[in-house]
Amino acid sequence: MHDDPRPSTWAPDSWRSRSAAQQPAWPDEAELKRVHTQLASLPPLVFAGEARHLTRSLGQAADGRAFLLQAGDCAESFSEFTADGIRDKLKVILQMAVVLTYGAGVPVVKVGRIAGQFAKPRSSPTEQVGDQVLDSFRGHMVNDDLPTRAARVPDPNRLTTAYQQSVSTLNLLRAFTKGGFADLSQVHAWNQEFVASSTEGRRFEDIAEGIDRALRFMAACGINLTGEDTLHEVDFWTSHEALILDYEEALTRRDSITQDWYDCSAHMLWVGERTRQPDGAHVEFLAGIHNPVGSKVGPDAAPDDVLALCERLNPARVPGRLTLITRFGADAVEAGLPPLLRAVRDEGHPVVWVCDPMHGNTFTAEGGRKTRRFDDIVAELRGFFAAHREVGTWPGGVHVELTGDDVTECLGGVEDIVEGQLGQRYTSACDPRLNARQSLDLAFAVAELLRG
Ligand code: PEP
Ligand code: CO
Repeated sequence: MHDDPRPSTWAPDSWRSRSAAQQPAWPDEAELKRVHTQLASLPPLVFAGEARHLTRSLGQAADGRAFLLQAGDCAESFSEFTADGIRDKLKVILQMAVVLTYGAGVPVVKVGRIAGQFAKPRSSPTEQVGDQVLDSFRGHMVNDDLPTRAARVPDPNRLTTAYQQSVSTLNLLRAFTKGGFADLSQVHAWNQEFVASSTEGRRFEDIAEGIDRALRFMAACGINLTGEDTLHEVDFWTSHEALILDYEEALTRRDSITQDWYDCSAHMLWVGERTRQPDGAHVEFLAGIHNPVGSKVGPDAAPDDVLALCERLNPARVPGRLTLITRFGADAVEAGLPPLLRAVRDEGHPVVWVCDPMHGNTFTAEGGRKTRRFDDIVAELRGFFAAHREVGTWPGGVHVELTGDDVTECLGGVEDIVEGQLGQRYTSACDPRLNARQSLDLAFAVAELLRG
């Protein structure tokens, strides 16, 4: 017997009968249909068995036995796409995972905002650039960020380019994580030059040396380290916001083993703060796929809204199926989060509670650039851990926007980036990201909170 109460009438296009926020006004319906048909015939990016594996790992994070690290770009870019960029992003995520695993002694589930994170919800459909009013940039899956009228026209062929770029990205990620780069004996090599010469770089070297000693000790005890896959390979999963439902529908396939539907565009999909209406199209879509799914939860969410999401997205109460990513802002988290934690706990819903300390702490600096303060990011994390301690629930993970590049997009951190420096290396296609040093520093702060 299948324990899934979802109606069997669900189909990948069921979302079309609901109201779908944040969808582009595609100018040419026939062209969109043509692209959709083509995408639907192309190979899936991920395999249903992998998504089930991730659900089981996330189930441990729901139970307090693991911690989720979900990280990557706010928006992947068609123009900034290089092997080095992917490698450096993976490197910083692996370093953070080592800091968390070694520093706090919990298994870390590693999920990238990568290989599909190409679409952005916008607060306003238009933006003012100089003296023109332009349609907003909606991510490279939809239109271009250049400030011209022509660049902002949605083009469905971008869905195919996003698919192709995701294929190459995932191919490289699989090679790096299974082909030796992620071997624990490489842990020193991940420490980038500019990181090795800094405080947090030296702290990382201490951990790397500790790992070396532990490996030598195990080898000396006669343990066959060569045959131990977990020391040489890493499970690294992909995720993105399921925003453009035409794309997600086209990549949704029935698993030949279970006959269940899986969105094979990524291992995990989430709905954003602007598209999480329980009766809306995005939640309808996520309700029918069997991947692990997530929802952002902002300060406006009432306990009943969150319970409605739990019922819609995880009626069978499968641990690891649902991740709630809270993004309150540093000032609101400590008062706002506990009522939600209590409501969900009292209803017995298994949830991976994850802190996104980025999106509630964004503001526009004087030069007009969006930014975030490193200290606010850490403050929200502190409030998140305090709220979980108060209620007795498990702080199950963090969700951050970062890059391996040496950018100047978020303020503060060890280098103490100030507002005047934001323009120096600001390359994000959307929101400001932590750079490699800030990311590593953040991992040390989270490890301390986890130990506490
Ligand atoms: C994002 O994760 O980039 C995002 C837009 O977040 P939110 O939906 O929480 O605003
Ligand atoms: Co963002």
